[in-house]
Amino acid sequence: MKRVVKRQTGMALILMLSGIMLVAAMLDPGLPTNYWDYPSASQGVSPHDWSKLEADLRPEACAQCHVEQFDAWKNSLHAHAYSPGLVGQFPAMGHINANECLVCHAPLKEQLYDNDESMDASILLRLKHQEGFDRDANLDAEKLPLRHSGVSCAVCHVRGGERFGPPSTTSGAIGKQQTSAHGGFTATTAFEQSQFCASCHQFPQSMAINGKPLENTLTEWKSSSFPGKGVTCQGCHMPDRKHEFRGIHDPDMVRKGLDLKLTQQKNSANLTITSKWIGHAFPTYVTPKVVIAAEAKDAKGVVLKQWQWEVVREVEYNNGWQEVRDTRLMPGESRAFIAQSLPAKAVKIRYWVRVIPDNFYKGIYHSLLEDKLNPAAATHIRRANRQADKNDYLLYEQEMAISAMH
Ligand code: HEC
Ligand code: HEC
Ligand code: HEC
Ligand code: HEC
Ligand code: HEC
Repeated sequence: MKRVVKRQTGMALILMLSGIMLVAAMLDPGLPTNYWDYPSASQGVSPHDWSKLEADLRPEACAQCHVEQFDAWKNSLHAHAYSPGLVGQFPAMGHINANECLVCHAPLKEQLYDNDESMDASILLRLKHQEGFDRDANLDAEKLPLRHSGVSCAVCHVRGGERFGPPSTTSGAIGKQQTSAHGGFTATTAFEQSQFCASCHQFPQSMAINGKPLENTLTEWKSSSFPGKGVTCQGCHMPDRKHEFRGIHDPDMVRKGLDLKLTQQKNSANLTITSKWIGHAFPTYVTPKVVIAAEAKDAKGVVLKQWQWEVVREVEYNNGWQEVRDTRLMPGESRAFIAQSLPAKAVKIRYWVRVIPDNFYKGIYHSLLEDKLNPAAATHIRRANRQADKNDYLLYEQEMAISAMH
């Protein structure tokens, strides 16, 4: 009897120990500490038993097996980060400075320029390739270098030839996983955390202007109520892991983030805008501008009075960067845009909200076009400018009858 008990205790001990070992094996490996180093480590040569397709880092190759992610990503701005507005500025900068821009726009070692000649060739090639990414592209004929796919699949998922990704939603298993392709992958919850987006969407505090870096998205998120509710960047920008990355350029995304309510109080009208589902300032960067306008009209439709407000963070260079104004809406904030003292003859008031997503860049393009640019650069910048104009949109429009009580 005694002996049996002893044996059972021994077994339990072994089970317990192996339990500890299991837990140890399942400790989340996280991302390698040099994951976001710049430039990244080279992806190197793939193991010889991999197929050509598995070794290919271009998004069209990943698309052959990861259709859903590719189809969403190709319509996102990440896929278009190697843009005309970016490369059009490069000839005047030279390849060393241009590589500094690629830190966020195309950061893999394989995406960088070796010299000015390779940069110039790439800028010419980009002029001819405007059509975007196609899952059915002939991978053998297509010779577009990896940098043209900007914030490509491999930028977020591949280092040193190894795939990294989030844990499977069904098993939740972390660490090295076996799969039928590319030698498996390493699963880590780092992909599910807001910090994952920081290396390109958050500047260090040392680069602050009036206390706030130009890119301050992660810090804004941290001081909002969203971390407490478990809502990460991915939760809003990659719902159900979809690679959409929709933002200020997408009217429906912006409408989803805001609540707009038009009312009348005595002799004023009031549009109240609430930031209800935006995990950072609206908008988070200095680049967009949001214009709110109102006009009061008489019975014949003649405009009697107009109002205008701007939601923007504006900075200017004047012996160093200065903040001119910051009228953005913080997460959860409500603000009333009030049309005061409605004229006695007014019978209607109309409010509308316009979004200019690339306001800051339009200014840059206009001043660049005044300079002498080389022909390829000028073509790129003109294209970027046309596209920026097309990106403007009407977010909201509402007309309300004014009651006689005013
Ligand atoms: C020949 C088919 C094939 C190709 C090509 C391929 N993969 Fe995969 N990949 C798989 C399979 C199979 C799995 C395991 C099943 C799954 O999770 O989808 C996988 C898993 C992954 C995962 C882990 C998914 C998770 O659950 O976390 C990532 C990330 C990934 N691949 C990225 C890529 C990237 C990036 C490329 C292109 C550079 C690529 N793959 C090319 C077949 C492929
Ligand atoms: C390697 C750098 C990099 C990483 C990592 C990265 N981004 Fe981006 N992101 C960019 C760049 C560059 C752009 C702008 C692309 C362009 O328009 O040229 C961008 C654009 C966006 C936009 C579109 C903004 C708009 O104006 O509409 C969203 C949304 C976004 N990123 C969200 C995310 C989220 C969420 C993550 C983390 C899961 C993330 N990004 C990780 C570099 C990055
Ligand atoms: C820290 C990351 C980062 C670096 C470094 C960076 N960018 Fe960007 N860039 C972004 C993000 C994020 C956006 C998207 C902003 C938005 O949509 O509001 C963007 C947007 C742009 C755009 C407008 C969208 C487009 O692609 O046409 C241009 C032009 C641009 N950047 C040029 C540059 C240039 C030139 C440099 C180098 C001097 C540079 N960027 C360096 C992150 C970066
Ligand atoms: C800006 C970074 C970024 C880019 C670019 C990107 N991914 Fe992802 N990917 C992520 C993140 C973050 C997750 C995890 C999201 C989550 O857990 O909410 C993810 C998840 C995945 C998964 C697992 C999906 C699942 O349902 O479990 C696969 C597979 C994948 N990505 C493949 C790709 C492919 C293929 C591309 C290019 C077409 C790509 N990714 C581009 C950041 C990125
Ligand atoms: C609660 C949902 C939510 C969360 C959390 C969230 N966002 Fe957004 N984000 C939005 C909405 C809605 C927009 C469109 C309105 C806007 O531009 O502010 C947006 C816009 C953006 C843009 C467009 C550029 C701009 O000037 O606004 C970028 C880039 C971005 N988000 C990145 C991030 C990153 C990085 C995180 C995490 C640190 C994050 N977002 C967290 C909802 C969210």
